[in-house]
Amino acid sequence: MRFKKPLDLLLKEAAQSGEGTLKRTLSSFNLVTMGIGAIIGAGLFSLTGLAAANNAGPAVTISFIIGAIGCAFAGLCYAEFASMIPIAGSAYTYSYATMGEFVAWIIGWDLVLEYALGAATVSISWSQYLTKFLHLFGMQIPPQWTMSPWEHVTMADGSVISGYCNLPAVFIIVCLSLLLIRGNKESAFVNNTLVILKVAVVLVFIAVGWPLIKPENHIPYIPANTGTFGEFGVSGILRGAGVVFFAFIGFDAVSTAAQEAKDPKKGMPIGIIGSLLVCTVLYVLFSHVMTGVVKYTEFKGSAAPVAVAIHAMGYVWLEKAVIIAILAGYTSVILVMLMGQSRIFFTMSKDGLMPKVFSKVHPTFQTPYVANLFFAVFVSLFAAFVPVKIVGEMVSIGTLFAFVLVCIGVMVMRKSDPNTPRPFRTPWVPFVPIAGILICIAMMVSLPGDTWIRLVIWMVIGLIIYFVYSKKHSLVRKNIAQGVSGYSDTK
Ligand code: ALA
Repeated sequence: MRFKKPLDLLLKEAAQSGEGTLKRTLSSFNLVTMGIGAIIGAGLFSLTGLAAANNAGPAVTISFIIGAIGCAFAGLCYAEFASMIPIAGSAYTYSYATMGEFVAWIIGWDLVLEYALGAATVSISWSQYLTKFLHLFGMQIPPQWTMSPWEHVTMADGSVISGYCNLPAVFIIVCLSLLLIRGNKESAFVNNTLVILKVAVVLVFIAVGWPLIKPENHIPYIPANTGTFGEFGVSGILRGAGVVFFAFIGFDAVSTAAQEAKDPKKGMPIGIIGSLLVCTVLYVLFSHVMTGVVKYTEFKGSAAPVAVAIHAMGYVWLEKAVIIAILAGYTSVILVMLMGQSRIFFTMSKDGLMPKVFSKVHPTFQTPYVANLFFAVFVSLFAAFVPVKIVGEMVSIGTLFAFVLVCIGVMVMRKSDPNTPRPFRTPWVPFVPIAGILICIAMMVSLPGDTWIRLVIWMVIGLIIYFVYSKKHSLVRKNIAQGVSGYSDTK
């Protein structure tokens, strides 16, 4: 038996309002900025230079386009679901309605990797840029408090210092969790401001840098392959696409706020596809300028490739502005990721798969404050004690896995519920979902083997919780057992 959540019931839940439910306050504009808020971050500012230096050269622009196409396929599937089932929970909820409770659990558990660990990854990068920012003003945080215990740094006098924990990362996670508890309107306001700031600086970078592009830096546009797969040439462009994929993660976070959108049927597709489109254009232009003002080889081994490009441009003031924008950019990514995560747990708890306490809504602020507090602690632990590379790769594999399941879900739903109104229809089904699945699997395969092992371990822990707790407390199962009308145990 598959124990599916009845679609009618989901639609009824989506229509509910009042105490104990989330407030519908987000406009289509808020949703697009929410998407951009989650998308532009460490991927653009740190990985563009790396992908150019190690994999694609100036053709990193093509890597971005390939990454965007892969995400667009998944994004179109997300948009159909999010407009059809406008309820908090994103891919978790869609799978509950289409593929049943077990798959829903797997995806809900998997999404923790994307959102919670996504927030942790970006908070670690945030901490690195905060250190740089304070340095500009002659201030310094002792290095042992800005690293996990697995990392160390060699000081100017040759001594080696190991990390205790990453305190600035914990600081930003806690502050943003408290902001989220305060309310969506407040969070949306802060997010809009941060997004405007980071997009403005990205645009200034493009505008100021464009006239300074030296055509010779773009020749050859696709450097010849070195003989190793993934090092330049066509394979380098593909490997580069896998690297910059991280830069696109986040557009799907829009779908977690479906229950708080004023007009989700219109707002969801606009938010998802709109933010993806805006970011793709910005990424391509940004990377074209980056590799145009300085030879891509200059980015090799650089921790701050954007700073290298700005130095080459000769605008020192822009460096400060860019660091501020990067801090703002990362802050909004963390904010949206934390929000998405709490909404997914909120929904899983309402369904009985997680303890009830996670769906407690704050009496004044109407936000799922217990889930917010829980993840403030959970994410802080990863941010404080785990190296950025490990959490970052887990985010990518978890996200790609979720995309695969959403693409499968769209095809399943077209068969199981062909007549349910779809305010937005994914075009060219099954081509789009199948292409989405293939591209995502290809990117998963390109990730290191130990990331796969961590994914398996995470999933095994999830399965134990499911069989020990969730299955026994599932509301859908209870309702089916009691013969509550509307429930079916579709085989
Ligand atoms: N896309 C987000 C970033 O680049 C996760 O930081």
